[in-house]
Amino acid sequence: MDDSAQEIYFNPWDESFRANPYPHYRPLLSGPPHLIDGLMPMVLVARYADVGAVLRDHQHFSSVQPRTELFQRRRDVFGDVPTVLFSDPPVHTRLRRLVTRAFTARRIREMEPRIRSIAAGLLDRAEQRGELELMADLAIPLPVMTIAEMLGVAPADYEQFKSWSDIIIEGDNTLPPAPLPDSVRTALAAIVEYFQAEIEKRRSNPGDDLVSVLITAQEESDSLSAAELMAFIVILLLAGNETTTNLIGNGMLALASNPDQLELLREHPDLMPGAIEEMLRYDAPAQCAVRFTGPDAAVSGVKLREGSFAFVILAAANRDPAQFPDPDRFDLARTPNEHLAFGAGNHYCIGASLARLQGTIAIESILHRFPRLRLAAPDASLIYKGSYFLRGLAGLRMAID
Ligand code: HEM
Repeated sequence: MDDSAQEIYFNPWDESFRANPYPHYRPLLSGPPHLIDGLMPMVLVARYADVGAVLRDHQHFSSVQPRTELFQRRRDVFGDVPTVLFSDPPVHTRLRRLVTRAFTARRIREMEPRIRSIAAGLLDRAEQRGELELMADLAIPLPVMTIAEMLGVAPADYEQFKSWSDIIIEGDNTLPPAPLPDSVRTALAAIVEYFQAEIEKRRSNPGDDLVSVLITAQEESDSLSAAELMAFIVILLLAGNETTTNLIGNGMLALASNPDQLELLREHPDLMPGAIEEMLRYDAPAQCAVRFTGPDAAVSGVKLREGSFAFVILAAANRDPAQFPDPDRFDLARTPNEHLAFGAGNHYCIGASLARLQGTIAIESILHRFPRLRLAAPDASLIYKGSYFLRGLAGLRMAID
């Protein structure tokens, strides 16, 4: 049976679909966008060219969540405050200009020694134990500690951050229009309370940290409101942590499952930048972006009903044979490799360089430290966390002896 004849099955709330969505993307890649009538009209955008076109067309494909009952949960999170992630120009242009001030190349470069030393400390602990639980020992704490450090908050608080962020991301997995779970409301309230105090501290005693830089952005003529600043901090915690954790986890799994590629990387460390790009392409940490259609929206000639929910499946586009020869092969020397794991167009990921840097440091540090690294239980089935949108492993045991 060829791919085009395969039945389309797309159910992000099905655990077995989430465990391996890739075979389900294949039939979507061989035809025009697929329409579904569910709680609202939906469209699955999967082909590389279509995904790129949708992400670059904010006029027909909006990032603003509709004000309907179904999306009440988003409003419960951010109220009516516009956020960089969920806005369109001109609001988006203004917010993006203000917040990118905090993500300069210099700031990211300056983080490098600190990220290396955090990674080394985390791996010391694993080495002393004689085993590596990749997620718990490194992939989870490294991004949280990095962002905690950038925000200028005490490293001791990082576990608290992580638990808030986990609770909110798990909330992703309850089917709308179910109300926002109480645990998520409580975690959000705790984040807001925590950062209100931090913002007050920075106002009286500013430093060189992200929160201080964002407060300065707030104090110039065009400025972030206090609510916008808070919403951005929450977005950073959510968008920056889980995704980077999953780059390290999914990337290491791909590497360890392809021992020839692991060997190749050991022999040619200069392949590392390309290896990180291939990890992002092959098993994208953010599987899917979301857009809402305005009037007259169409993809590849398929007209869409106004107000449709568009699943813009980055991870499917990254496996499109029309763009990537032999797309299911993990090939760290692949070039060109213009994947869409960080999105495209005006919402392109603000943290891409920081994520690449952390991914590089994590993988380099592990390979350097553990020359006999391999999967501890290659035949064991893998357990994924609850969110379809942010795909990542619950755990990954590695042998290091
Ligand atoms: C491997 C790690 C990461 C991946 C795969 C990733 C992926 C993405 C994607 C796909 C988008 C676009 C969403 C859309 O078009 O709707 C995005 C936006 C964004 N990301 Fe990342 N991200 C990562 C790491 C980070 C980090 C480390 C930070 C910050 C600390 C960050 C901050 C943001 C922000 C603020 C946006 C919103 C930009 C906008 O709407 O203009 N991300 N990211």
